[in-house]
Amino acid sequence: MDKFVINGGRRLSGRVRISGAKNATLALMPMVLLAPGVFRLHNTPNIRDVWSMSRLLGEMGAHCELNGNELFLDSSNITSHEAPYEQVKKMRASINVLGPLVARYGEAKVSLPGGDAFGPRPVDLHLKGLEKLGAEITLENGYIHAKSSGLQGAKIHFDISSVGATENVLSAAVLAKGSTLLTNAAIEPEVTALARLLVKMGAKINGIGTNTIEIEGVKELHPVEEENIPDRIEAATFLIAAAMTRGKVIVENVNQYHLTAVIAKLEEAGCTIDITGNSITLEMDDAPRPIDITTAIYPGFPTDTQAQWIAFMMLAKGSSRITDSIFHSRFHHVPELQRLGAKIEMVSNSAIVHGGAHLSGATVMSGDIRASASLILGALIAEGRSDILRVYHLDRGYEAIEKKLAGLGASIERVKTDEY
Ligand code: EPZ
Repeated sequence: MDKFVINGGRRLSGRVRISGAKNATLALMPMVLLAPGVFRLHNTPNIRDVWSMSRLLGEMGAHCELNGNELFLDSSNITSHEAPYEQVKKMRASINVLGPLVARYGEAKVSLPGGDAFGPRPVDLHLKGLEKLGAEITLENGYIHAKSSGLQGAKIHFDISSVGATENVLSAAVLAKGSTLLTNAAIEPEVTALARLLVKMGAKINGIGTNTIEIEGVKELHPVEEENIPDRIEAATFLIAAAMTRGKVIVENVNQYHLTAVIAKLEEAGCTIDITGNSITLEMDDAPRPIDITTAIYPGFPTDTQAQWIAFMMLAKGSSRITDSIFHSRFHHVPELQRLGAKIEMVSNSAIVHGGAHLSGATVMSGDIRASASLILGALIAEGRSDILRVYHLDRGYEAIEKKLAGLGASIERVKTDEY
C-alpha cells in the first residue's frame, strides 16, 4: 500500500503536461468489441483504471498492451461476453462493454455496478435505452443479462443527460438495423470523442456534440487508430493547485474549450489566466475571492472538480457555497478537509466553506479519485506534514501525480506503508 507524504507551503511554478483523458479512454476501449482487429489509442493515460479495463477486455479474449502512453488492442478473438463482479466492482465504467456486446454478439452478462463512495450509481437509463433498441434485459443474481436477435433502431429520450447511458446506447445503436434518434443525450467531450471514434470505425452518426444524435445503423465496423483527448479534470486539478499555492504554472496539452466553466470561475476568483494554443498559464498572488459554484452537466462546472473547488475556497476571503446537483452526496472529502482545519458546514447537497481558517497538516484519506485530489490540494497549503492514505484511488485517475507536482516544486513523495 502507498501513501503520499506532503509538506505544505511550497509555491508551484513551471510546466506540467496533462495526460490523456481517463473518462474518454474508458469509453473508447470497449469499442474494440464492435469490430475484430488491431486498434491503437495514442495518448492513453497510464493509470489503474486503464489497467482494469485492459484486464476485463483481456478476460473476454482481447489482447491489450499499454507501452507508455500507447495502447494496443487486438479484438480478433473475443471468447467471452461477460463482465464479472470482481472486475465491475473495481471500476463502474466496466458497464461500457454492455452496449457493444449486445450489438455485436446478441448477448451480454455484466455485473450490476452497485454504488460507490458517493452514493448510488443507478444504470436504469442504460438498460431502458438498450431495451428500446430491442434488447431483452433481465436482472438476476446481481447481473444484467441482455439478449438480442438483432437490435432495431428507435427513438430514445434520456430522462437525464447521463454520460454513461449515452455512451452505452450510442455504441449499441451504431450496429442496430435502421435509424436511431437520441434526444437529451450527454454532450461531455468524452461522449463526443466516442462518437468521433465510432464514425472513424465506419458508423453513421449526425449531431455529434449536440444533445440530439441521429444514428443510421451499419452492418459492420472496422478497427482504427485514434488520438485520445486531454484530461480536462486533471487540467482543472493542476490549475487549482497552482492558484492555491499562489504560483505560476503552465498547463500543457489541454483543450481550453473543455474547461470554459472552470476557467471562468478561476478568473472570477482573481486568477490571471493566459491561453495560447493548447497551453493555459495561471498566475495567482493573493487569496481567492469567495466564489459559489453549482455543478452541472457539460458545459457547466464539472462535478469531478467540485471537491477541488472546495479545497480552493478554504483559502478564500469570505464564505462560499459549493453545490453538487449531479451527485448530491459526493462530499466525503469534507470531513477529511475539516481534519486539516477547514471550516465547512454541510446543508443538504451544498458545502458552505468559510475561508481563511488556519490549516495544519494531518493524516487523511478518501475513497474517491477526486476527493483524494482535494486532500492533496489541502495538504499542499496546510502548515507542516500531511500523509494522504489510500493513494490507489488517485492512481486510478491521475498518472504519476506526485511526480508532476514535485516537478512544479511541491514537497511530495510516495512512501510504502501498512497504514490504510
Ligand atoms: C461519468 O460517470 C464519469 N465517469 C464520472 O467521472 C462523472 O462524475 C459523471 O460522468 C458526471 O459527469 C466516467 O466517465 C467513467 P452520469 P457516469 O451517468 O456516466 C444519474 C470521475 O471521477 N443516472 O452522467 O456514471 C446519476 O446518478 C468519475 O472521473 C441515473 O439516474 O455519470 C447522476 O446523478 C466519477 N441513471 C447523473 O445521472 C442512470 O442510468 C449523471 O450521471 C445513469 C445515471
